[in-house]
Amino acid sequence: MARILITSALPYINGVKHLGNLAGSMLPADVYARAMRLLGHDVLYICATDEHGTPAELAAQAAGMDVADYCDEMHQAQKSAGEDFALSYDYFGRSSARSNHALTQDFAARLEDAGLIEERVSKQVYSNADQRFLPDRYVEGTCPNCDYESARGDQCDNCGKLLDPIDLINPYSAVSGSKDVEIRETRHLFLRQSIMADDLRIWVNSHSADWPPLATSIALKWLDEGLRDRAITRDLKWGIPVLRQGFEGKVFYVWFDAPIAYISATQDWAEKTGGDWESWWRTDKGAGEVQYVQFMGKDNVAFHTLSFPTTIIGTNNAGGDQYKLVDNLKAFNWVTWYGGKFSTSQGRGVFMDQAISIAPSDYWRWHLMANAPEGNDAAFTWEEFQNSVNSDLANVLGNFVNRITKYAVGKFDGVVPDGGQDGEHEAWIAAELSERLPALIAHYEAREFRKAAEQTRAIWAAGNEYLTRSAPWTHYKTDVDQAAVGVRAGLNLVALFGIIAQPLIPDAAAKILNAVGVPEGNRTWSFGDFSGVADLLDALPRGLPISPPELLFTKIEDDQIVKWTEMFGGGEV
Ligand code: MF3
Ligand code: ZN
Repeated sequence: MARILITSALPYINGVKHLGNLAGSMLPADVYARAMRLLGHDVLYICATDEHGTPAELAAQAAGMDVADYCDEMHQAQKSAGEDFALSYDYFGRSSARSNHALTQDFAARLEDAGLIEERVSKQVYSNADQRFLPDRYVEGTCPNCDYESARGDQCDNCGKLLDPIDLINPYSAVSGSKDVEIRETRHLFLRQSIMADDLRIWVNSHSADWPPLATSIALKWLDEGLRDRAITRDLKWGIPVLRQGFEGKVFYVWFDAPIAYISATQDWAEKTGGDWESWWRTDKGAGEVQYVQFMGKDNVAFHTLSFPTTIIGTNNAGGDQYKLVDNLKAFNWVTWYGGKFSTSQGRGVFMDQAISIAPSDYWRWHLMANAPEGNDAAFTWEEFQNSVNSDLANVLGNFVNRITKYAVGKFDGVVPDGGQDGEHEAWIAAELSERLPALIAHYEAREFRKAAEQTRAIWAAGNEYLTRSAPWTHYKTDVDQAAVGVRAGLNLVALFGIIAQPLIPDAAAKILNAVGVPEGNRTWSFGDFSGVADLLDALPRGLPISPPELLFTKIEDDQIVKWTEMFGGGEV
């Protein structure tokens, strides 16, 4: 049994996330957490809302709300959207929590002791109309890299390049729209990433075999281009105050405090549950054996492989409490909307709260993971969504479960039948399973979600093939014992299929396991015995009452696709 710490990139507070965000961080982290728990590992899955910085302030302003109130409200909204999608966080915290203020300030002090912080005068955009500095997204203008006209000060949404607000051409205030802006000098703290570059390169290279190429290549590209020192403070009111003379009214940069919230949210989890956060994070307190895995979209990779590690290594260098670096990370490409961008303003794409109002969470979870944006970007289309639900869930899994449970009720008194001996068909399915189940586990361990979904589906499909071969219904009249063997094996397959479905489609899996009477405490891989796969076909006690499950999946009809395309956009780009 291993101890596995899992975090998914903290979603910005500025609104419930769309399916692309879900598919690239929180959902795969949840599926992985569930799969690892299923294998009997000790898992801690932590997430939180990322509440500081200009995204929070601008969204609050747009909503006409005080930023603290806005964050309270949106934290609840995101928390309940997560629950609706069955995201099994051990704790869903907040980067604005007191614990994160304290830990961020402590990290900054220790980085300073380690000589990694420097006070510098830097140039910032200042708005005369708004009478304030305009950091990051508070200023927009033309991208110096691609000429896109509404690039944000921190990053161009068109070409993806990280920007310095003073490089924007024709800058204007995102607060008021005013073009009356100038460059003024202001003092900020800089994290001296550049002097850590060699250490970071060694560390990144040490992971080249186990990180996905997408992650290593992004990190190395940044290092090759020459890692620049970055300002970790801002002229903003909302955020974590910088405790330093002359820095009154300044706060830490959101990307400095947000990843620290992985740790402080774990502290809050411990506070609430009586858990021991140090054993998960402090290598001087037993966390050395913990396997720490992060999930994120590709735009977050540089922060997680360079900036946050600088924070951790630098803090550790100061001596005292020693914190853990990430061991493994999984980075995703984008889910696109018919090949284009999700766009709130143009009404293209689906947000988590909308998605759940039109289809159950299992449908989304299955579709998004079966088409995870792993190798490349993955296009969402309504047609493929319909196809995933109808053919994989309804036809392959749903039909199997309904067919055999109904038959058992009709012909075998609704119990797992006794009698008969396993024969060639059972040997066939046992051989299939002894190949496919270890492959499925290996895919989960490698965090290959498309392959895990594909293998799960292949196992379900093998069950249908088994029923076609053993055909208990044709034997029933002439040899009831032979029919009993087929029904018994079939019901045991239902239990197995429910067990392996749990990481991807937990709600349907629970219905299935309830239907065949698998007790809640016995829904892990140790159910049956993997070393002797044949035993899996006889794991349910004979005579155990079973019942067909309540409705598992409803097929998606063509007219629903038409309606949803009207509501949320579709192929008409
Ligand atoms: N809020 C960021 C985003 O959505 C991710 C923050 S991840 C963390 O892109 F490490 F900073 F927490
Ligand atoms: Zn650009």
